[in-house]
Amino acid sequence: MDLPFSPTMPDSYAVIGHPIAHSKSPLIHGLFAQATGQDMTYQAIDGGAEAGGFDRALAAFRAAGGRGMNVTLPFKLQALAAADVASEDARLAGAANALRFDADGRVQAQNFDGIGLVRDIQVNLGLPLAGRQVLLLGAGGATRGALLPLARAGAARIVLANRTAAKAQALADELAPHLPAGCTLLGGGLAELPSGAAFDLVLNATSASLGGDTPAVPAAAFAPGALAYDMVYGKGLTPFLRLARAAGVARLADGVGMLVEQAAEAFAWWRGVRPDTTAVRQRLTVPLV
Ligand code: ATR
Repeated sequence: MDLPFSPTMPDSYAVIGHPIAHSKSPLIHGLFAQATGQDMTYQAIDGGAEAGGFDRALAAFRAAGGRGMNVTLPFKLQALAAADVASEDARLAGAANALRFDADGRVQAQNFDGIGLVRDIQVNLGLPLAGRQVLLLGAGGATRGALLPLARAGAARIVLANRTAAKAQALADELAPHLPAGCTLLGGGLAELPSGAAFDLVLNATSASLGGDTPAVPAAAFAPGALAYDMVYGKGLTPFLRLARAAGVARLADGVGMLVEQAAEAFAWWRGVRPDTTAVRQRLTVPLV
C-alpha cells in the first residue's frame, strides 16, 4: 500500500571555513536542533586554501539543496561578496558570518557577531549598555563587527584604541556617520586614551590573546565594577583577563557566550525558533583560571 505522504529530506545547513576541524558550530547547532525538535542536518565544510574554493563549495552546497551556512575565517569577506542582499550589520562590518539561501534564489547575508556579543553582555552577564562608557581594543574585523550593535544598544561613548593609532582613527571616521545620535565615537592609540577616562566595559577585540599577548590597558581605564571581556573563547584566563584582574576587575568574561549567542541568532533566522542558550553555554565554558 502506498503511503499517503512522501518522506522528505531534513533541511541541510553547514559551517564553512579553513581550517574547520576545530569548529564548535556542528556541536552547537546539533544541540539547538535537538532542543527545539528541528529536523535538520548540520555539517562542517572545509573551503580549502586555493583561490575559488569558497565559491565552489558554496555552489555545490546550494546545488545539493543546502538552506543556509555559517561562515568563519577566512571566508567572511567572500561570503558578503556572494550575497544578493546584506544586512546593515554585515555591510558595515564588511563581512558576513551567516548566509541563507531563499526559495526565490537569493542569497541573504547577515553578521550576527555583534548582536551575539551584545546579548551576551546584557542578558547573560547582566550589564545593560545604555549610557555606558566602552573601551574597544583593536581596529580589525572583530571591532568592526561589534561597533554598531554596541552603539545601538545605547552606549554613550565608545573609544577605539589600537596598537596602530591611525587604523583606529580611520575606522572611527568611517563608521561615526552610521552611529545613532547620542553615541560618541573616538579612535586613537592606547597611549592616547582621554585623560581621566574610565570605562564600564573594556572589550578585547584584538588577536593578541591568540599569541599569548595583551594590549597594555592602564589600570585606571577600568571603572569601578567594570566588566573586562575577551572575545576569544576556550583559553581560560587570557593575558588580557589576567591584566584586568591584576587591575582589580572582578567581572571577567571570555567570548564563549558571544559564540553561542551568534549561533542562536543564525538558528532563529533560518528556522524561526530561537533556542535557549543556557545548556550549550555551560557545556562549552572553560573556567577562567
Ligand atoms: P580580526 O579580523 O580578527 O580583528 P585583524 O584585522 O588582523 O584581525 O586585526 C587584528 C587586531 O589585533 C588589530 O587591531 C591589531 O593591531 P594593529 O592594527 O596595530 O596590527 C591587533 N593586535 C594583534 N596583535 C596585537 C598585540 N600583540 N597587541 C596589541 N594589538 C594587537
